[in-house]
Amino acid sequence: MNKPNRKGSNMPTLATTVDGLKLPNPFIIGSGPPGTNLNVIAKAFKEGWGAVIAKTVSLDASKVVNVTPRYGKLHADDGKEVIGWENIELISDRPFHLWIDEFKKCKDMFPDGVLIASIMEEYNKDAWIEIVQRCQDAGVDAFELNFSCPHGLPERKMGAAMGQCPEILEEVCSWVKGAAKKPFWAKMTPNITHIEDPSRAALRGGATGLAAINTIRSVIGVNLDTLRPEPSVEGYTTPGGYSSRAVRPIALRMVMEIATMIRKEFPGRSLSGIGGIESGNDAAQFILLGADTVQVCTGVMKFGYECVKPMQDELLAFMAKHKFETLEDFKGKSLPYFTTHADLVKRQGERKAAQKAAAAAPPKKMVQADGEWSGDEFVKQSDALSRGE
Ligand SMILES: Cc1cc2nc3c(=O)[nH]c(=O)nc-3n(C[C@H](O)[C@H](O)[C@H](O)COP(=O)(O)O)c2cc1C
Repeated sequence: MNKPNRKGSNMPTLATTVDGLKLPNPFIIGSGPPGTNLNVIAKAFKEGWGAVIAKTVSLDASKVVNVTPRYGKLHADDGKEVIGWENIELISDRPFHLWIDEFKKCKDMFPDGVLIASIMEEYNKDAWIEIVQRCQDAGVDAFELNFSCPHGLPERKMGAAMGQCPEILEEVCSWVKGAAKKPFWAKMTPNITHIEDPSRAALRGGATGLAAINTIRSVIGVNLDTLRPEPSVEGYTTPGGYSSRAVRPIALRMVMEIATMIRKEFPGRSLSGIGGIESGNDAAQFILLGADTVQVCTGVMKFGYECVKPMQDELLAFMAKHKFETLEDFKGKSLPYFTTHADLVKRQGERKAAQKAAAAAPPKKMVQADGEWSGDEFVKQSDALSRGE
């Protein structure tokens, strides 16, 4: 066990308090199949997850009709490793009264476990207030507002359709703010050009924090035997949501942009990083870019609930290596190193000029202008450019 979050002790701790929620570690089950009923939520708490966000619920599950197959995978060249995952799964198709019952039972079983309800409703104030009140009466510790599901629900003006419209987002968050006695995070869609705009609107509306990203609208591939796009349902498909390792760089960029905006405009609001997290080192990168917590969804579907143990060990090892005692010690530490491309050019020019002036060794031959690329040396030149030699 780690020592408590105490300055002065050399043992790093993963324990953290976010929006008043006391988490034993920052690893949270992201909304989706790994939090789809009480059995699996209980498994997550037993395996030591820091918190669980249940599968998204709505008041009327009868409108939610799922299809099969609803997943499609992108494999690495070895044909085994899954690097990308598309789903056309909807929110929970289980009746709301069952969920309320299971939220209560879950809090009885794990009084200290942080249980977060993911909720989604149509553009209707009464419905949002009702869902918030009934979930908090059942004992949930916090909410995540799903403004981000990219498929199926936008046809009913839910999910990403709301998340792409800052005015609606702000209004819905203000309704929730009026009803919620618990903290609530707005989960953002990445299917938008500037993620800061809806993020800012959600915070203006009163969201305690943000979560990003949900899945990226995608087509996983086309079957070259049948010529049908996948996943194929009766020979047809619809664009779905992309997750897993392949989305991590996009998620990191968006988390960086949101965290930068939060620091400038809404200091103190929280951020939960999501997208392709599978290891402690992945988590460390999201925290370095400003995340308070990290969520894992597809990773659990690939590796099982037990993966939280090696993730914790790896994050602790990273902290020990850098002598960080708490997550706060390195949260956002890499953010100051983002700048404009013009500034990179200026910095590099200054460094080279200084080198020249000091009569340092002449710089190695590296491609400077597009005309200098040579076909024979192409791979070497690409490598040298990525190392900055
Ligand atoms: C099969 C599947 C179902 C999902 N269902 C939900 C959902 O009900 N509500 C939600 O907010 N996000 C849902 N998500 C999105 C995830 O919570 C997460 O934002 C996204 O997959 C990126 O993280 P990951 O790469 O760790 O999966 C789902 C993802 C998958 C793969």
